[in-house]
Amino acid sequence: MQLWPDIESEYVERTPTSERLHRETRAHVPAGVASTFRNWDPHPLFVERASGVHLYDVDGNAYLDFALNNGAAMVGHAHPAVNEAVADQLGDGTLYCHPHELLSEAAVEIKRRWDPIDLVRFTNSGTDSTMHAIRVARAYSGRDKILKIEGSYHGVHDYVLISKSTPEGKWGHPKRPAKLVESAGVPEQVAETVEVAPFNDLEAVESILREHRNEIGAVIVEPIVMNVAVTQPRERFLHGLRELCDEYGLVYIFDEVKTGAKVAPGGAAEYYGVEPDLVAMAKSIGGNFPVGAFGGSEEIMRTIEDDAAHFGTYNGNPLVLRALVTVLRDVLTDEAYERAYALGDALAQGYEDVMEDAGLVGHVDQVTTQGTAVFTDHEIRNYRDFQTHVDPDLQENYFFGMLNRGVMAQPHGIAQQWTISVQHDRAYVDEHLEAFKDLAPRLADEQSL
Ligand SMILES: Cc1ncc(COP(=O)(O)O)c(C=O)c1O
Repeated sequence: MQLWPDIESEYVERTPTSERLHRETRAHVPAGVASTFRNWDPHPLFVERASGVHLYDVDGNAYLDFALNNGAAMVGHAHPAVNEAVADQLGDGTLYCHPHELLSEAAVEIKRRWDPIDLVRFTNSGTDSTMHAIRVARAYSGRDKILKIEGSYHGVHDYVLISKSTPEGKWGHPKRPAKLVESAGVPEQVAETVEVAPFNDLEAVESILREHRNEIGAVIVEPIVMNVAVTQPRERFLHGLRELCDEYGLVYIFDEVKTGAKVAPGGAAEYYGVEPDLVAMAKSIGGNFPVGAFGGSEEIMRTIEDDAAHFGTYNGNPLVLRALVTVLRDVLTDEAYERAYALGDALAQGYEDVMEDAGLVGHVDQVTTQGTAVFTDHEIRNYRDFQTHVDPDLQENYFFGMLNRGVMAQPHGIAQQWTISVQHDRAYVDEHLEAFKDLAPRLADEQSL
């Protein structure tokens, strides 16, 4: 990806301390970051603090934040109610390694939102949640293989680091995507435990299931592929998968790490009216604390009492569960959703208007609090559509152009999306749109070259 010289030099001039700290940190920390996604060129921002809907960097720049910790912060930053609950818990201890009453309190909050969930276990991250959901699904089905979607990300454990960002040229047939292990250190044999299918193509999924009947035990999907912008299921794709899972005796897993508690109180399962067997979640359920969960039908989850291992020193610790209960019970209320949805619609409509006025070809893909501007008029139905029709340079310069105007419009990475938090209001949406209005003609000029 190529940054345009004026956009790059403005960013570099605004962030000299970040550049120095990044260089110095690399002496101690690989790539100078704690998660490799965070290492951007020319250098990442070093953040000093976050509060409300703002991030403050070490050079004294403030950013109106719609990236919100890769979507983990629907509560915004440092939400007072969450802070108060967590501060209160500090005095009573943050880790017991014994059961406590918050476990069922937190589980009840999750069950209230997800009808398909009878039983819940807590984890420390989204990776942890998908890994254990898959293990439980394998234990229940007695089959080792899973089916995943091309371009979907389910965290960083070995079984899902496959065909997440396959480069063009290695794609394979559109209906039979290649299985590509995407990290050194992941054994090639792991690919033998996974089949990969395109999103929004039930016929392709069914053909793979037929070919691997009695081998595949589970299907895992991001119900909205939010590692490919905001790519929604079309033509009742998720309902069709439900029927196929029933027909082939498969455990249907929703990875709601990004959608959970954000596109609707009960995530994508509620939004689309689909009942998965298991749901994996993390991010926004925890109000910026490292907590995840997975849950589902009693019959499947009881395998944990038989022979499916789920252990963890920090699982369900009282600190993060206090945060989770506060978020789900007191902060993400029905009124909070209503307000956030209205702001999400206003931001999406505002983007459409600005693009039209500026002659910038593009459209917004949006579901309630989640959205993104994609600078193409092609419909994005799956990973390959995005790779084929979206100009990565334009998307990257949009991100930095917005940063230079004091707005972090979405997480870095051309296929990411904004999140509306409960701490945003109409004035912040307008400020975001003003910045985009200022940048859009520049993007339109480059697009027309
Ligand atoms: C859909 C999805 N699943 C799982 C994960 C992994 O979550 P975590 O980063 O908490 O391990 C992510 C992270 O972005 C995600 O987007």
